[in-house]
Amino acid sequence: MEYGRFPAYRARRMRADETVRQFIRETELSVRDFIYPLFVKPGEGRRDEISSMPGVYQLSLDMLKAEMDELLGLGVRSVLLFGLPSHKDECGSEAYDDHGIVQEAIRVIRAEAPEMHIITDVCMCEYTSHGHCGKLTATGEVDNDATLAWLAAEAVSHARAGAHMVAPSDMMDGRVAHIRRALDEAGFSQVPIMSYSTKYASGFYGPFRDAADSAPAFGDRRAYQMDPANAEEGVREAAYDIAEGADLVMVKPALSYLDVLRRVKSELRFPTVAYNVSGEYSMVKAAAANGWIDEKRVVIELLTSMKRAGADMIITYHAKEAARWLAEEN
Ligand code: PBG
Repeated sequence: MEYGRFPAYRARRMRADETVRQFIRETELSVRDFIYPLFVKPGEGRRDEISSMPGVYQLSLDMLKAEMDELLGLGVRSVLLFGLPSHKDECGSEAYDDHGIVQEAIRVIRAEAPEMHIITDVCMCEYTSHGHCGKLTATGEVDNDATLAWLAAEAVSHARAGAHMVAPSDMMDGRVAHIRRALDEAGFSQVPIMSYSTKYASGFYGPFRDAADSAPAFGDRRAYQMDPANAEEGVREAAYDIAEGADLVMVKPALSYLDVLRRVKSELRFPTVAYNVSGEYSMVKAAAANGWIDEKRVVIELLTSMKRAGADMIITYHAKEAARWLAEEN
């Protein structure tokens, strides 16, 4: 194809007014793209702000109704639940307890805000006393195969409580197939799996580990989460999970991995989720609080870039503010 040359061609002609800019805009960010992460905890009347994540709260169950009303009022229709259990042990038993904090939260949301779509994070790190994402061997490594049964039990327990979708974030090999089989056997063949397929061992999870109280007591997660240097492997991880039955795949974190997101989307052509993680949120908040950046402008730019890179959905702590800003623009 031959393109015209200056002065016959002038790119600025198409940028001169907003109507024309809108005509040729390639990416449209919408409140329908957002999934809002939510931290639920025991107790009453609790709405505790996370110090490293201003504007994000840990909520007790009695606070969920108001939170759902606010989200639905803004047009945010989907939440991703994380639990802070009342009790942690070696085998993370509250993760797969039918009366665990997440299971109870699902029931409350189902009863009080039936239009809300509920996704649950399926992992062990919030529930184990050692903070790792699975069962430990005698020498302190995470035992992949022994962890699979726990994860499957957790996912089934979430589905039984009424979760619409489950999202395993543990990075054990084979967990998608294992969870799929367990869900099907329990009668939940209609519950989709959103796999955290391409999850990197990232410094950007720092504030989340305060929020969910899930920092490992020793070592780190590099023996199961991915090396930030690898893109090819990131695409392969998503392909394995699709083969095992994942309905959606994910790239996490988002910002430093938009190249991987683009590749996963274009090479596999599957519904793809971006997780705009805690550290990415906190950086924006800190810079904005100092007056160093225009928060609204930067947040919309960041979320738009995730969509442009190939995300069908974005999990983001900015969802409420972004929903307000998008509504103002229309
Ligand atoms: C659980 C999990 C983590 C996040 C989502 N699910 C933490 C981790 O893997 O250490 C991070 C989310 C965020 O930083 O916003 N395994």
